[in-house]
Amino acid sequence: SGLAIGLDVGGTKISGGVITATGEIVAVLPPVVSPAGDTDATVSALLTAVAALREAHPGVTAVGVGAAGMVDWPEGRIRWAPNNAYRDLPLRALLEKETGLTAVVDNDGNTAGWAEHALNPRSGHLLFVTVGTGVGGGLVLDGRLHRGATGIAGEIGHLPVDPHGTAVCGCGLIGCLESLASGTALGRLGREAALEAPDGLLAALAGPGGVTGRTVADAAAAGDATAIGLYGVIGAWLGIGLAGLVTVLDVDRVVIGGGVADAGEPLLGPVRASFEERVFARAHRTPPVIEPASLGNDAGWIGAALLALE
Ligand code: BGC
Ligand code: NA
Ligand code: ZN
Repeated sequence: SGLAIGLDVGGTKISGGVITATGEIVAVLPPVVSPAGDTDATVSALLTAVAALREAHPGVTAVGVGAAGMVDWPEGRIRWAPNNAYRDLPLRALLEKETGLTAVVDNDGNTAGWAEHALNPRSGHLLFVTVGTGVGGGLVLDGRLHRGATGIAGEIGHLPVDPHGTAVCGCGLIGCLESLASGTALGRLGREAALEAPDGLLAALAGPGGVTGRTVADAAAAGDATAIGLYGVIGAWLGIGLAGLVTVLDVDRVVIGGGVADAGEPLLGPVRASFEERVFARAHRTPPVIEPASLGNDAGWIGAALLALE
């Protein structure tokens, strides 16, 4: 059987590569900046990536895309996204027409969750959380990807967790988990911290107004207590979201991926503490493991490629 290309379209970058039918990585695309505000540019970036990967790997027979936003399955039409400009984009049909390959398009959290399950199956009850520009989810229940009645299940970034807060989400609502716990939120908290401490490392790295989630990541990696504390803030919010979700879903495995999760323990420690404080009947249940994505930031595109091969 053939090889498949996978692509992961986020609000900040497009990543991708080629896998075999058993999930072995044979090529990784150098990450491309996501032209999130421009639909045509997004489509051409994807077609360019497909062409480049195919030229190097002529055995490619299929392409899968995990895209941030609401995706109709199996039609592969992207309806809408909070952090990307595409609207009503029939991406699957377009890819099949332009490339002649078998194509699938699904939500990026779904594809990443599917990869974490399919390549490392355990009980089959898994909640995947991606923390990047946005916060996304992938639900694997009873060993199957749960897409819901209209395909948009698992939009955990838009779980209302702070209705009285001030943080406006990319979706337009107030108090979504994403507005409090994404890379975007981390950058906002970092700018606030840099303004408060103009002599601190965050301000030194980027200037008070120039701090992004990336700056906070760099400062935390250098041991800066302020930056590490900000991971504690967003981790606490994630734990609140997860406590509610696990209380409802009873998964035994929560996998956290996305670029912000590269921080490791400074994020995961506070997530676990906040989760344990709030999950229902903590003393009477076996809590799920909360672990980093075993495929790291490659989960999204790998899962898309796996779905394309099915
Ligand atoms: C979108 C999701 C997406 C997530 C991560 C959210 O803002 O609503 O569809 O999965 O970001 O990219
Ligand atoms: Na999802
Ligand atoms: Zn929202």
